[in-house]
Formats: sequence, C-alpha cells, structure tokens
Amino acid sequence: MKFYRLLLVLLATSLPMTLYGAVQAAQVGDFALLDHQGKFHQLSWYDDQKAVVIFIQGNGCPIARNGALTLKAIRDDFAEQGVAFFMLNPQPQDDRDSISNEAAEFNYDFPILVDESQLVAESLGVDRTSEVFVIDPKTLRVLYRGPIDDRLGYEAQKPEAQNHYLRDALTAVLSGTVVATDTPEAPGCLISFPARDKYQKSTISYADDIAPILIENCVSCHHDSGIAPWSMKDHKMVQGWSRMMKEVLMTRRMPPGQIDMHVGKSIKDVIEITPAELQMLVYWIDAGASMGEGENDPLSELIFSDSLFSLGEPDLIYTVPAQSIPATGLIDYRYIPVELNLDEDVWIKAIEFAPGDRKVLHHIIAYLQSPADKSTGGRDEGDGRDDSIGGFAPGRQADAFRDDSGRLIRKGSNLLLQMHYTTSGKETIDETTVGIYLHDKPPKYVMSGGVAGQRRFMVPPHAKEHELKGEMMIESDAYLYAMTPHMHFRGRYMSYSAQYPDGTSELLLSVPKYNFNWQFSYHLEEPLLLPAGTRLVAHGAMDNSAQNPFNPNPEVPVVFGLQTKHEMFFGFNTLRYVGDTPASLGDSEIPEKNPSSGS
Ligand code: HEC
Repeated sequence: MKFYRLLLVLLATSLPMTLYGAVQAAQVGDFALLDHQGKFHQLSWYDDQKAVVIFIQGNGCPIARNGALTLKAIRDDFAEQGVAFFMLNPQPQDDRDSISNEAAEFNYDFPILVDESQLVAESLGVDRTSEVFVIDPKTLRVLYRGPIDDRLGYEAQKPEAQNHYLRDALTAVLSGTVVATDTPEAPGCLISFPARDKYQKSTISYADDIAPILIENCVSCHHDSGIAPWSMKDHKMVQGWSRMMKEVLMTRRMPPGQIDMHVGKSIKDVIEITPAELQMLVYWIDAGASMGEGENDPLSELIFSDSLFSLGEPDLIYTVPAQSIPATGLIDYRYIPVELNLDEDVWIKAIEFAPGDRKVLHHIIAYLQSPADKSTGGRDEGDGRDDSIGGFAPGRQADAFRDDSGRLIRKGSNLLLQMHYTTSGKETIDETTVGIYLHDKPPKYVMSGGVAGQRRFMVPPHAKEHELKGEMMIESDAYLYAMTPHMHFRGRYMSYSAQYPDGTSELLLSVPKYNFNWQFSYHLEEPLLLPAGTRLVAHGAMDNSAQNPFNPNPEVPVVFGLQTKHEMFFGFNTLRYVGDTPASLGDSEIPEKNPSSGS
C-alpha cells in the first residue's frame, strides 16, 4: 500500500500537464452555511488557510462519534499550521438543537455546519457520515476524500490505525507534495436524501412552485425599474440567470439582509428562503430551469405601481439636491442636509423616500437634527444627539408608525441624510424626494429613536473578527419596535439582546452575515416591553482581513468615523417610552433626548 501510494505521487508529478489535470480532484462550489451556534461560514473566507478539513457528522452514528476523537487529535496537531477544521451535518433527521445536544454530550468543539437543505453534502457527493474532505480553499479543489484512518469499521475497531490517511494527506498538502488518492471507501452511516429522491420522480412546476418563491423573495428588487441590475420579468430571463441564481443562493448572497431564523423574536416581512424552497430552486435549476408545456408565466403578468410614494400623497415633499454619480468607482457616503422649514412643531406618522435612480441609490439614513443640536454648531454623527428617523433601502418598507403613534419634529429641525451610492456602469443623476406624512392632531403614543453603539475602538490590521459591543440603558419602561444594525465595509455580524433587570437575558435578533450594502430595519412582529433598567446590547464584529471582499485596505487600523474608510458600530432602534405622551412632552419645550450610552 505504502509503496503503491508513493508510486502514485511520483507518477502524478512527472505526468505531462494535460494528464496531470485529469487526475486532479473535483472542484466544489463556494458555499456558505450557519453552524450549530448560528455563526456564518463561507468556504472562500478561509482562503488564508492552507487547507480546510470537513468531517461529515451525524447524530447517533457510532463511527462518526468515534472518528470525532481522532479528528480532535489531528486538529490539535495541524490547526496551528494553517488548517481549519469543521464538521458538517447533512442528516435530515437532525436539527440545530439536537446537533448542539450531541456536540455537548460528545464534547465536539468544532463549528458544526448545519446543511439543512443537504445541498452542500450533495454537491460534495456525500453518501455516509464520517467521511472527511480536505479542500484547498484557494482553488476549491478537493485534495483528499475518504476515511480519517483505517481504525474504524462497522461494529469493529482496531486498537491502532495502520494507515493514517488524513494525517498523511495534510502532511502532503503542507509540504506541497501530491496527496495519495488510493484510499478505500469511508465506512459510516448512510445518509438519506428525501428531497433529492422525491424530485427525481416528480417534476417541479415553474408556474406553481418556482415563480411564487421568486415573487415573494426576489422580484421586489429584480423588476424593470428595481435596484437589481437584471429583471426577473419572465421565464426566459430567469432561465438565463439560473446558474448564477444557484451560486448566489448557495453563498447566501441573495436575498440580501438574511437573519438567523432559528433565534430571536419574530420579525415582520423578513425575506427568507427556507431550506425546502432552496431545494426546489436548486433542483429545478439543475434540471435545466425549464417551463412546462402550456404553463403560464406568472412573472410576466406582474404589474408594478409607478406612483412615487407607496403611502399615497405626502403632506410635505422635499427635493434632495441633485447628485451626480459617475459610471464607476467607489463613492464615499454623502451627507446632505435637507431644510425642513417648519414654522411649527409637527407630529409625523410616516416618512418615505422616493429614489431618483434606483440603480445607484443604495441606502439613505435620515438623521433628525433638532434646533438644540444645530445650535451647537458642528455635528458629529453618532455622538448620541442625532436620531435616525427613518431611511431607505431597496426592499425596505417605508417607515410608517401605527395610526396611534408618531414622532415629534420641533420647528427649526432639519434632516441630515447619509446617502450611499454605488456605481452602475453608466453616469447618472439622482434626484431623490422625501415625503413626510403628518398627524392632524397629536397621536396617542410618541415614538423615539435610540442607539446602542460603540464609538471608541480600533480594529487592528488583518483582524478577522474584532468583537465590539454597544449598550443602551433603558431608563424608563419602553417598547422596542425595530432594530437597524449599522456598520460600514468591515461590519461582519451584529446581534441585539436584552439584559433584563432580573438578571435574565434574551437574544432578539442575529444578522450573521452583515453587508453594508443593505441597511435593513428589522421590525418586531410584536413590540417588546423593555422594563426600566434593561440594557439593550448590540454585539458584533469587524472583519479587517483580506478575506473580506469589501475591505478597502486590510493593512491599516480602522477607527470610528463618518466615512466608509472609517467604521461605525451602531445598533439603531425604534422605541416608545411608556411615559412619553404628547402632553408629557409639552408644547414648546425641547423633549429630553433618549438616554443613550456606549462611550
Ligand atoms: C433587496 C433587493 C434584492 C432582493 C430581494 C434580491 N436581489 Fe438579487 N440583486 C440585487 C442587487 C442590487 C444585485 C446587484 C449586486 C451587485 O452589485 O453585484 C443583485 C444581483 C443578483 C444576481 C446577479 C449576481 C450578482 O451578484 O450580481 C443574481 C443571480 C441575483 N441577484 C439573484 C437573486 C435571487 C435569486 C433573489 C431571490 C431569492 C434575489 N436576487 C433577491 C438586489 C436584490
């Protein structure tokens, strides 16, 4: 065996290029999954490692449990040398909770990737648990697949392994030699693939199965005048884009703004592709993305409203000064003041932005500057005095309060808009308008904005996960309505939790893969009471490494600041303090600012 393998190595290195290519291993697609603790992992993000090891785990499988011990020993020897280790669980009968229990019981201290749709395992050709894969994260080639060693069999164990396949493979990878490929099949527990088997027998209907998923999750941006660069206007477009669709689904790049659906409070209108929907889409795409004979095309029948404002005619309309946007390049955030010219205090019930050019306007965050803020002269966004009062992002609903709620804007206040543009390949001018909707009389409830933020930090060069935390003390009973995480290019993830005065705490929202391109507001299905003394905590991390594709420069430390080359760490939120009523705020006094802390 040993001799035979050596021969293979020699053969492989001396073969002419073309033939050598032919014996090279299969390439896998880049993919992203959440692990059993809700953390986001994408294969290509580990391309600073020399190898990625993925062990197929399954609850209850004796060979997998036993193999895990050997895997740990190997990890302890190789992790320091640039090898990242994972487990991957594709078993349809396991879920995050049962996987966490198994991990606790058997002391697995690996991130266990939960392959809910089984599509990653399928793409790797996985059949049984306990098989192990060694992948080159730069080329995404499988360098080795097979058993860890030859110690374990069905109901049989040898005291010692004779062949240490995984160790040998890693040693070969690290020393730059070719990995042997003459390994036996890996013993392990067979995995069922019910969805795959089902869709091999029944066809997926474009009109009944696929189009509804796209309408629900994609078309709000992918229509003719939407922000997305191509329109899902009919089957032909979707079919043409289908392989690219599969890629962005497998890397979880689309739909944008995904949250961890397994934790936190229920969120309204969140865009989510379920594992079952993902399976349907991918099997349909793999089968050629075709439309059945005589099927109608729901996508081509959609009608989009061409009215500027979705909420109807606003009471006040302001035009943002025209912004000229070049064809290409990165554009720093622009801060554009909008004079409101109010000669009396007003109660607003909604604010909506009508983008001039949806192809380039990526987001707006509107900060309210009260007369008191302005009188202090220069401003410093995020010093706690400026509230975010609403904003625009593609796919984000207009910021409307309930009928009985509103926000007070004092006369003399102005808006300051943080506008983020991206270039679209074509020079353009954006003329955005702002619509404000007013209550005729003071509403019953007063809404406020708050922020759990951190303003003093330094993210070292190349830090892959620099954790940050911001806190906001809730000083009197309040209801939480919405959360809006805000970071720049290096933002990696953010979660919100509530630490209650009785010592308990609760995770409210987790955005495992933050992307600064998408400034979503996550509205709670039910407002949540935060009793006085609760700490609202935003926890997250910055990624200043070269693996972060948005990072303009991993060589420099990053500090707090307004522009995109600087960073922000803000957990914006929308609250209603129980004691705040229009009467309690008086008519002419400036309302007290929200308590906010964090620096
Ligand atoms: C909130 C808006 C929005 C939603 C919802 C959305 N997309 Fe996109 N999509 C975009 C934008 C913007 C781009 C261009 C990104 C860029 O600049 O590369 C894009 C690009 C794409 C691309 C082209 C590849 C690329 O990276 O440019 C594909 C394919 C795609 N989206 C598929 C989907 C699918 C499938 C869905 C639904 C599951 C979806 N999108 C939902 C906004 C959206």
